Amino acid sequence: MATPATTGSRSRAFQAKYIILLAFAAMIVIVWVTRDRFLLQPDSFLRQRYSPIAPLMFLHGIPGAVALFLGIFQFSNRLRARFLQVHRVMGRVYVGCVAIAAPAAVVVATKLPVPTLTMASVIQATGWILTTATALYCVRTGRISQHREWMIRSYPFAAVFVFVRVVIAIPAVARAGVLGLAEVVWSCIAIACFLPSFMIAWQHLAASKRPAKARAA
Ligand code: HEM
Repeated sequence: MATPATTGSRSRAFQAKYIILLAFAAMIVIVWVTRDRFLLQPDSFLRQRYSPIAPLMFLHGIPGAVALFLGIFQFSNRLRARFLQVHRVMGRVYVGCVAIAAPAAVVVATKLPVPTLTMASVIQATGWILTTATALYCVRTGRISQHREWMIRSYPFAAVFVFVRVVIAIPAVARAGVLGLAEVVWSCIAIACFLPSFMIAWQHLAASKRPAKARAA
Protein backbone atom coordinates (compact mmCIF):
# COMPACT_ATOMS: atom_id res chain seq x y z
CA MET A 1 0.00 0.00 0.00
CA ALA A 2 1.28 3.49 -0.81
CA THR A 3 2.22 5.44 2.34
CA PRO A 4 1.86 9.26 2.43
CA ALA A 5 5.69 9.47 2.17
CA THR A 6 5.87 7.37 -1.03
CA THR A 7 2.85 9.17 -2.50
CA GLY A 8 4.57 12.52 -1.74
CA SER A 9 7.88 11.51 -3.37
CA ARG A 10 6.02 10.12 -6.41
CA SER A 11 4.12 13.36 -6.85
CA ARG A 12 7.39 15.35 -6.53
CA ALA A 13 8.97 13.14 -9.22
CA PHE A 14 5.85 13.66 -11.36
CA GLN A 15 6.09 17.45 -10.96
CA ALA A 16 9.84 17.47 -11.70
CA LYS A 17 9.21 15.46 -14.88
CA TYR A 18 6.62 17.96 -16.12
CA ILE A 19 8.80 20.96 -15.27
CA ILE A 20 11.66 19.41 -17.29
CA LEU A 21 9.24 18.67 -20.12
CA LEU A 22 7.94 22.25 -20.17
CA ALA A 23 11.47 23.68 -20.10
CA PHE A 24 12.47 21.40 -22.98
CA ALA A 25 9.38 22.39 -24.99
CA ALA A 26 10.29 26.06 -24.42
CA MET A 27 13.82 25.34 -25.71
CA ILE A 28 12.42 23.71 -28.86
CA VAL A 29 10.35 26.87 -29.45
CA ILE A 30 13.49 29.02 -28.97
CA VAL A 31 15.40 26.90 -31.52
CA TRP A 32 12.55 27.21 -34.00
CA VAL A 33 12.19 30.98 -33.57
CA THR A 34 15.90 31.89 -33.49
CA ARG A 35 17.16 29.49 -36.14
CA ASP A 36 15.28 26.67 -37.81
CA ARG A 37 12.28 28.67 -39.07
CA PHE A 38 14.76 30.12 -41.59
CA LEU A 39 14.86 26.69 -43.22
CA LEU A 40 11.44 27.59 -44.67
CA GLN A 41 12.78 30.78 -46.32
CA PRO A 42 14.36 30.03 -49.73
CA ASP A 43 16.95 32.85 -49.61
CA SER A 44 18.01 32.40 -45.96
CA PHE A 45 21.58 31.68 -44.83
CA LEU A 46 20.58 28.18 -43.70
CA ARG A 47 18.92 27.27 -47.02
CA GLN A 48 21.96 28.51 -48.94
CA ARG A 49 24.28 26.56 -46.66
CA TYR A 50 22.31 23.33 -47.06
CA SER A 51 21.29 23.63 -50.74
CA PRO A 52 24.29 21.64 -52.12
CA ILE A 53 23.27 18.65 -49.94
CA ALA A 54 19.49 19.18 -49.70
CA PRO A 55 18.44 15.47 -50.02
CA LEU A 56 20.99 14.51 -47.36
CA MET A 57 19.68 17.22 -45.04
CA PHE A 58 16.15 15.83 -45.47
CA LEU A 59 17.47 12.35 -44.71
CA HIS A 60 19.07 13.70 -41.55
CA GLY A 61 16.69 16.45 -40.37
CA ILE A 62 13.28 14.77 -40.86
CA PRO A 63 13.99 11.47 -39.05
CA GLY A 64 16.00 13.44 -36.46
CA ALA A 65 12.99 15.66 -35.76
CA VAL A 66 10.61 12.67 -35.62
CA ALA A 67 12.91 10.89 -33.13
CA LEU A 68 13.20 14.04 -31.04
CA PHE A 69 9.40 14.42 -30.93
CA LEU A 70 8.49 10.76 -30.34
CA GLY A 71 11.21 10.26 -27.73
CA ILE A 72 9.46 12.64 -25.35
CA PHE A 73 6.31 10.47 -25.26
CA GLN A 74 8.28 7.25 -24.73
CA PHE A 75 9.08 8.36 -21.17
CA SER A 76 5.41 8.76 -20.22
CA ASN A 77 4.47 6.06 -17.68
CA ARG A 78 0.78 6.72 -18.33
CA LEU A 79 1.08 6.21 -22.06
CA ARG A 80 3.02 2.98 -21.55
CA ALA A 81 0.53 1.69 -18.99
CA ARG A 82 -2.61 2.56 -20.98
CA PHE A 83 -1.51 2.17 -24.59
CA LEU A 84 1.35 -0.31 -24.66
CA GLN A 85 0.89 -0.95 -28.39
CA VAL A 86 1.28 2.78 -29.16
CA HIS A 87 4.49 2.83 -27.06
CA ARG A 88 5.79 -0.18 -29.05
CA VAL A 89 5.01 1.33 -32.46
CA MET A 90 6.49 4.72 -31.51
CA GLY A 91 9.56 2.95 -30.12
CA ARG A 92 10.09 1.11 -33.42
CA VAL A 93 9.72 4.37 -35.36
CA TYR A 94 12.21 6.04 -32.95
CA VAL A 95 14.77 3.26 -33.54
CA GLY A 96 14.25 3.46 -37.34
CA CYS A 97 14.70 7.25 -37.27
CA VAL A 98 17.92 6.96 -35.25
CA ALA A 99 19.21 4.35 -37.72
CA ILE A 100 18.71 6.86 -40.57
CA ALA A 101 19.38 10.27 -38.94
CA ALA A 102 22.60 9.38 -37.08
CA PRO A 103 24.65 7.92 -39.99
CA ALA A 104 23.31 10.72 -42.24
CA ALA A 105 24.58 13.25 -39.64
CA VAL A 106 28.12 11.91 -40.03
CA VAL A 107 27.93 12.35 -43.82
CA VAL A 108 26.51 15.88 -43.32
CA ALA A 109 29.42 16.69 -40.98
CA THR A 110 31.98 15.60 -43.58
CA LYS A 111 30.25 17.51 -46.40
CA LEU A 112 29.75 20.71 -44.38
CA PRO A 113 32.75 20.62 -42.11
CA VAL A 114 32.88 23.04 -39.21
CA PRO A 115 36.50 23.11 -37.96
CA THR A 116 36.97 20.82 -34.93
CA LEU A 117 33.37 19.55 -35.07
CA THR A 118 33.44 16.59 -37.47
CA MET A 119 34.64 14.21 -34.74
CA ALA A 120 32.00 15.67 -32.39
CA SER A 121 29.33 14.52 -34.84
CA VAL A 122 30.95 11.08 -35.11
CA ILE A 123 31.00 10.68 -31.30
CA GLN A 124 27.43 11.99 -30.90
CA ALA A 125 26.06 9.80 -33.71
CA THR A 126 27.92 6.72 -32.43
CA GLY A 127 26.65 7.30 -28.89
CA TRP A 128 23.10 7.72 -30.19
CA ILE A 129 23.24 4.49 -32.23
CA LEU A 130 24.94 2.37 -29.53
CA THR A 131 22.64 3.43 -26.69
CA THR A 132 19.52 2.99 -28.85
CA ALA A 133 20.68 -0.42 -30.11
CA THR A 134 21.35 -1.52 -26.52
CA ALA A 135 17.87 -0.32 -25.47
CA LEU A 136 16.42 -2.35 -28.36
CA TYR A 137 18.46 -5.45 -27.39
CA CYS A 138 17.24 -5.14 -23.77
CA VAL A 139 13.56 -4.94 -24.69
CA ARG A 140 13.88 -7.80 -27.20
CA THR A 141 15.39 -9.98 -24.47
CA GLY A 142 12.79 -9.02 -21.84
CA ARG A 143 15.04 -6.76 -19.73
CA ILE A 144 12.48 -4.00 -19.28
CA SER A 145 14.13 -1.92 -16.57
CA GLN A 146 17.48 -1.95 -18.42
CA HIS A 147 15.57 -1.01 -21.59
CA ARG A 148 14.21 2.07 -19.79
CA GLU A 149 17.68 2.99 -18.56
CA TRP A 150 19.26 2.70 -22.03
CA MET A 151 16.49 4.85 -23.50
CA ILE A 152 17.32 7.43 -20.82
CA ARG A 153 20.91 7.25 -22.15
CA SER A 154 19.80 7.41 -25.81
CA TYR A 155 17.51 10.45 -25.81
CA PRO A 156 20.06 13.03 -24.55
CA PHE A 157 22.13 12.44 -27.72
CA ALA A 158 19.12 13.74 -29.69
CA ALA A 159 18.48 16.52 -27.16
CA VAL A 160 22.03 17.83 -27.79
CA PHE A 161 20.59 19.25 -31.03
CA VAL A 162 18.25 21.50 -29.00
CA PHE A 163 20.65 22.42 -26.17
CA VAL A 164 23.48 23.44 -28.48
CA ARG A 165 21.24 25.72 -30.52
CA VAL A 166 19.72 27.32 -27.41
CA VAL A 167 23.14 28.05 -25.91
CA ILE A 168 24.62 29.45 -29.14
CA ALA A 169 21.60 31.77 -29.45
CA ILE A 170 22.90 33.61 -26.34
CA PRO A 171 24.57 36.74 -27.80
CA ALA A 172 27.77 36.48 -25.71
CA VAL A 173 28.25 32.87 -26.86
CA ALA A 174 27.43 33.74 -30.46
CA ARG A 175 30.16 36.41 -30.35
CA ALA A 176 32.71 33.76 -29.30
CA GLY A 177 32.62 32.41 -32.88
CA VAL A 178 33.73 28.95 -33.99
CA LEU A 179 35.75 28.33 -30.83
CA GLY A 180 32.71 29.13 -28.68
CA LEU A 181 30.58 26.82 -30.83
CA ALA A 182 33.11 24.01 -30.44
CA GLU A 183 33.14 24.44 -26.65
CA VAL A 184 29.33 24.35 -26.51
CA VAL A 185 29.01 21.29 -28.76
CA TRP A 186 31.70 19.26 -26.96
CA SER A 187 30.32 20.24 -23.52
CA CYS A 188 26.77 19.20 -24.46
CA ILE A 189 27.99 15.87 -25.86
CA ALA A 190 30.04 15.23 -22.71
CA ILE A 191 27.00 15.97 -20.53
CA ALA A 192 24.83 13.67 -22.68
CA CYS A 193 27.40 10.92 -22.08
CA PHE A 194 27.58 11.10 -18.27
CA LEU A 195 24.42 12.78 -16.93
CA PRO A 196 21.98 9.90 -17.66
CA SER A 197 24.22 7.31 -15.95
CA PHE A 198 24.63 9.65 -12.99
CA MET A 199 20.82 10.06 -12.71
CA ILE A 200 20.20 6.32 -13.06
CA ALA A 201 22.80 5.57 -10.37
CA TRP A 202 21.10 8.05 -8.01
CA GLN A 203 17.69 6.45 -8.70
CA HIS A 204 19.19 3.10 -7.65
CA LEU A 205 20.77 4.68 -4.56
CA ALA A 206 17.48 6.31 -3.54
CA ALA A 207 15.61 3.01 -3.96
CA SER A 208 18.14 0.85 -2.13
CA LYS A 209 18.27 0.36 1.62
CA ARG A 210 21.14 1.81 3.60
CA PRO A 211 23.52 -0.81 5.09
CA ALA A 212 22.40 -1.92 8.59
CA LYS A 213 25.50 -0.38 10.24
CA ALA A 214 24.73 3.08 8.87
CA ARG A 215 21.04 2.73 9.88
CA ALA A 216 22.01 1.81 13.45
CA ALA A 217 24.40 4.77 13.65
C1 HEM B 1 23.62 12.14 -33.48
C2 HEM B 1 22.90 13.23 -33.46
C3 HEM B 1 23.11 14.36 -34.45
C4 HEM B 1 24.23 14.78 -35.12
C5 HEM B 1 25.61 14.21 -35.02
C6 HEM B 1 23.84 15.91 -35.94
C7 HEM B 1 24.69 16.62 -36.79
C8 HEM B 1 24.31 17.69 -37.58
C9 HEM B 1 25.19 18.48 -38.37
C10 HEM B 1 26.69 18.26 -38.51
C11 HEM B 1 24.44 19.44 -38.97
C12 HEM B 1 24.96 20.57 -39.90
C13 HEM B 1 25.29 21.79 -39.06
C14 HEM B 1 25.94 22.87 -39.89
O1 HEM B 1 27.14 22.73 -40.14
O2 HEM B 1 25.23 23.81 -40.26
C15 HEM B 1 23.08 19.26 -38.56
C16 HEM B 1 22.03 20.04 -38.95
C17 HEM B 1 20.71 19.79 -38.64
N1 HEM B 1 20.25 18.79 -37.82
FE1 HEM B 1 21.38 17.45 -36.86
N2 HEM B 1 22.52 16.14 -35.75
C18 HEM B 1 22.02 15.22 -34.84
C19 HEM B 1 20.75 15.12 -34.36
C20 HEM B 1 19.68 15.83 -34.85
C21 HEM B 1 18.34 15.74 -34.33
C22 HEM B 1 17.88 14.88 -33.17
C23 HEM B 1 17.59 16.57 -35.07
C24 HEM B 1 16.13 16.82 -34.83
C25 HEM B 1 15.56 17.92 -34.87
C26 HEM B 1 18.44 17.19 -36.06
C27 HEM B 1 18.03 18.10 -37.03
C28 HEM B 1 18.88 18.88 -37.79
C29 HEM B 1 18.43 19.98 -38.61
C30 HEM B 1 16.98 20.41 -38.83
C31 HEM B 1 19.58 20.55 -39.14
C32 HEM B 1 19.63 21.76 -40.08
C33 HEM B 1 19.26 23.05 -39.36
C34 HEM B 1 20.23 23.51 -38.34
O3 HEM B 1 21.45 23.43 -38.54
O4 HEM B 1 19.75 24.00 -37.30
N3 HEM B 1 19.71 16.73 -35.88
N4 HEM B 1 23.02 18.19 -37.71
